[in-house]
Amino acid sequence: MVKVTNKIDWIGIKDWDLRLFHGHELSTFKGSTYNSYVIRDEKTVLVDTVWLPHADEYMETLEKEVGIDNIDYIIINHMEPDHGGTLGKIMEKRPDLPIYCSIKGEETIKAYFHKEWDLRPMKTGDTLNIGENTITFVEMRMIHWPDSMLLYLDKEKTVLSSDAFGQHLCTKSLFNDEVDECVLYQEAIKYYANILTPFSKLIKKKIVEIAALNLDIEIIAPAHGVIWRDNPMQIVNAYAKWSDDYREEFAVILFDSMYDSTRKIALALEEGMGEAGKKVKIFNASITDLSDMLTELYKADTIMIGSSTVNNGVLASIEIILHEIKGHKLGGKDFLAFGSYGWSGESPKHIHQKLLDAKLNPLADPISVFYNPTKQDLLEIKELAKGLIK
Ligand code: FEO
Repeated sequence: MVKVTNKIDWIGIKDWDLRLFHGHELSTFKGSTYNSYVIRDEKTVLVDTVWLPHADEYMETLEKEVGIDNIDYIIINHMEPDHGGTLGKIMEKRPDLPIYCSIKGEETIKAYFHKEWDLRPMKTGDTLNIGENTITFVEMRMIHWPDSMLLYLDKEKTVLSSDAFGQHLCTKSLFNDEVDECVLYQEAIKYYANILTPFSKLIKKKIVEIAALNLDIEIIAPAHGVIWRDNPMQIVNAYAKWSDDYREEFAVILFDSMYDSTRKIALALEEGMGEAGKKVKIFNASITDLSDMLTELYKADTIMIGSSTVNNGVLASIEIILHEIKGHKLGGKDFLAFGSYGWSGESPKHIHQKLLDAKLNPLADPISVFYNPTKQDLLEIKELAKGLIK
């Protein structure tokens, strides 16, 4: 247990060993935490639980530090099982407990547990007085699930923000002023890029809506990773920037190559852009972590993707990337497709079409090379890249 404010304690789990999340979808190389909080006011309120594999440890701590019989209310900000997973275990011991949740949360909790519990759905602006503090509920629909919501405690001047502003990061200290800032921001933007990017438009609007409430905020405590207590608004400002067509001035080249012909094109593009003064990050998609690549794609202003042609299409690692670019709504960036072929040569056209479908802007027609590029081919590709950047 860790003291967050006078009346709020962290009672979560540190998952040092976590390396994959959402099944096998997302890499979490620095672990994560599942942040559950207990508010000890005139009423004792538990906010969120932890992922079911950690239920035994969590239940033991909860019993020791709070006493399950002493809890007056549970608030579930978000019923994704990494936060709501242990709710069933608590309710086995206290089936009488009122559960506050969002309107969508009521539906989600019922759909997970199929129980007749005392669910109390709250909408934006609804409040609950628990003694010195009044809790204000703010729905955060699709940030990032339909049921997501956040809480504001007026006396503690604290926002319990659920997934928003979180990071998959497990550190000894739970506070932003006591961890490495570079690591913190790298994990925060990786989290944003991989989990929240599809909802950027909603996030942008929600930040304006919350700013209009003029809340006095001293702490922002998310459901994963470290708590923002030193200049907490810095992460809100970062989200305002990240949700507003965020771009950094560099290009990403992603390729997959069977016999190095497509790799040679990638390197010629890199050389040309480099000579034109453009910063470039280049990745072999078949051996690079997908979540890390997606983070770089999210940040880049220019994306170049290449693949050998195989079975009238692209290599599997490239097909996945194309799927992720569309799903994460990375439209609006500039792109170039390239590739090599020996027989039918569909890959550059396929990549080009998929990126058009994802609403990216073509810099030029796709580059297609028959078998092995000649020195002259590579020189021309390099010059083309230079020209595109200029
Ligand atoms: Fe951390 Fe959306 O659950």
